[in-house]
Amino acid sequence: MAVLVTGGAGYIGSHTCVQLLEAGYDIVVIDNLSNSKMEAVRRVKELTGKDFAFIKGDIRDSALLDEIFRKYDIESVVHFAGLKAVGESVSVPLRYYHNNVTGSIMLFESMQRNGVKNIVFSSSATVYGMAEKMPLREDSPLGAVNPYGRTKLMIEDILRDIYVSDNSWNIILLRYFNPVGAHPSGRIGEDPNGIPNNLMPYISQVAVGKLKELSVFGNDYPTPDGTCIRDYIHVMDLADGHVKALEKLREDPGVVVYNLGTGKGSSVMEMIAAFAEATGIKIPYRITGRRPGDAPVSYADPSKAEKELGWKAKRDIIDMCRDLWTWQSQNPDGYGD
Ligand code: NAD
Ligand code: UD1
Repeated sequence: MAVLVTGGAGYIGSHTCVQLLEAGYDIVVIDNLSNSKMEAVRRVKELTGKDFAFIKGDIRDSALLDEIFRKYDIESVVHFAGLKAVGESVSVPLRYYHNNVTGSIMLFESMQRNGVKNIVFSSSATVYGMAEKMPLREDSPLGAVNPYGRTKLMIEDILRDIYVSDNSWNIILLRYFNPVGAHPSGRIGEDPNGIPNNLMPYISQVAVGKLKELSVFGNDYPTPDGTCIRDYIHVMDLADGHVKALEKLREDPGVVVYNLGTGKGSSVMEMIAAFAEATGIKIPYRITGRRPGDAPVSYADPSKAEKELGWKAKRDIIDMCRDLWTWQSQNPDGYGD
């Protein structure tokens, strides 16, 4: 029995593949490499010393998916494949709806045709929209504020509807907070295309000399130091959360949703300080205007995942910064060309 990992060459997918292989799972990976490199797959094999099938292909290719389900003995699916850049989703919404929503529907249809009814889906804290009441609980009000977020909400709803129609499905929706860091070996990590949009990859590229200085997007928010607060979570903790979710699927849980966060918020200034503490590198920064669409504060109540999955984030922001730096300093150009 194997786990099909869609988007397994990507940032969170590659780290999860390592942890799944270490936990003894057989895996099959499908990725169209639209936002990742084959080198990541090679390094997952190198790190674990284990081989697995990698299929370069798109989840919107039904014939290919059917072939994979027929060829391999797939028990469950971990579904990472999707586009994730918020700004880009505003410029090219149809590409996002087609890739993420149509792609997911085609995957679920193929699962149904082939009798595979166990899935873990990568949702996001973005489904809480501009919620004000913290910490965010799984039953906090939902509301997406951009096309990317809407694709996540739509896919969550589609999966809930599938369950209503056929309750032999088992579906776990994982809402990730802010994934950062890298495998401690520095062999795999996040390799964004072009100039990073997100804080931590930006900081690490300033540290390695690829970018001049960090722009801190606003210091006039209603927070202790005026900069936005987020719940940063180490990608290895996130990967472990998927191993726990797969174990949970074996208990026939129906459809369940879990926040994967640390429960602890850190401000932009605290992350700059943590990076300096972990690496000795002071990041030059400048305060600029607010970025449209940023919520002042966002952090999880992760207690449901602790209670029901036996999962709790173990790594702190110093670990996140240190491991990010190990990856970035050893791979200044990511996986290269
Ligand atoms: P990523 O871009 O590194 O990985 C996604 C992978 O999916 C890439 O390797 C890409 O090539 C592949 N892919 C995209 N569309 C595909 C398609 N149609 N067919 C086959 N492969 C396809 O992103 P990530 O950070 O690893 O995120 C993984 C998942 O987690 C995504 O669904 C993302 O929306 C979600 N998520 C990410 C974050 C984050 O901050 N990184 C936060 C919350 C949720
Ligand atoms: C962003 C997305 C969110 C997505 C999340 C995934 C937006 C508006 N939101 O969230 O939908 O789920 O990534 O990780 O894009 N910052 C700077 N300077 C920078 C970059 C960021 O000051 O160069 C600040 C931001 O204003 C924010 C914090 O750092 O306060 C974190 O930013 P980021 O890493 O982009 O994550 P989110 O804003 O949480």
